[in-house]
Amino acid sequence: MLDQLKRAAADALAELAAVDAEAELAAWRSRHLGKKSPIKTLLGGLGALDATERPQAGREANLAQRRLQAAFDERRAALERAAHEASLGAEALDVTLPGRLPRRGRLHVSTLILRRIAAVWAEMGFQVYRSRDVETDEYNFQLLNFPPFHPAREMQDTFFTTEPDVILRTHTSPGQIHVMRERCPEPIRVILPGMCYRYEQITARSEIQFNQVEGLAVGPGIRMSDLKGTLTDFARRMFGPDTRTRFRCSHFPFTEPSAEMDIECFLCGGDGCRVCKRAGWLEILGCGMVHPVVLENGGYDPGRYSGFAFGMGPERIAMLRHEIQDIRLFWGNDMRFLEQF
Ligand code: DAH
Repeated sequence: MLDQLKRAAADALAELAAVDAEAELAAWRSRHLGKKSPIKTLLGGLGALDATERPQAGREANLAQRRLQAAFDERRAALERAAHEASLGAEALDVTLPGRLPRRGRLHVSTLILRRIAAVWAEMGFQVYRSRDVETDEYNFQLLNFPPFHPAREMQDTFFTTEPDVILRTHTSPGQIHVMRERCPEPIRVILPGMCYRYEQITARSEIQFNQVEGLAVGPGIRMSDLKGTLTDFARRMFGPDTRTRFRCSHFPFTEPSAEMDIECFLCGGDGCRVCKRAGWLEILGCGMVHPVVLENGGYDPGRYSGFAFGMGPERIAMLRHEIQDIRLFWGNDMRFLEQF
């Protein structure tokens, strides 16, 4: 019996030494420490032994059992240590490698310039008024004093929809009517920024969509000198305190008189260069005194109220500023372009 015990224990230990995976270890445990292990079986046969041999055999069996348990614990710990070491090696982090930079988002160049324009007008007391992109022929043209079939409409090739008279706005000016009808008889100082749409051939100089920033001031006693002073102040805040401006006669159906404002070229200071095409001046916006018919269409009595309006193209200003040669770049989604701002 004692020999059998020794042999069973020695076999078990030899087997354990060869175990090197967790699954094998579990199988070994149920084989040698479970209810049907060789040692348990021998213990079960104790009763058949002589009473004098029984105590010693029992002690030896328990001893062998404990030794196997201890060997098992040790082997398990060794395997766990080895697995841990292996994972440390395999999953090692090299903290000296350069990091991977996340791609940072940024604002579109048009958004940047729109915000700059809005900030300057805000300093001067003008609120932002958001007007709709989808308009009717009535608001986009008729109420702004463009009668049906008037040749001034030819400047603004229009996107029509399948709904009769529903169009995409060709300029931000229809917002003038919306804001006047909403605010009348209050005085008004607002800018109206937003996207405009024209059915144009897309070239380096013309796009089917672009932003405009419209402006409108209405109140009692507003004069042409207010228009000139306010727009010149804007130009100085926007382009620098020494910026000179000049106003040239023009025509828009919704203003009378109408003008175009130029600023002295900020690249050459008026000497003449590539950007200003040797003129020394850059055309920045259209403007004028609000036409009496338009004031009336907005609900204001032109006998008591007057106002001025203006409209500028932020993409055009950005093109001059950054010497961008092709307007298609704005909506072309080329990261090499967009990442420069
Ligand atoms: N709506 C004009 C256009 O798209 C721009 C403009 C000119 C707006 C003069 C105005 C203005 O308010 O007074 O060509």
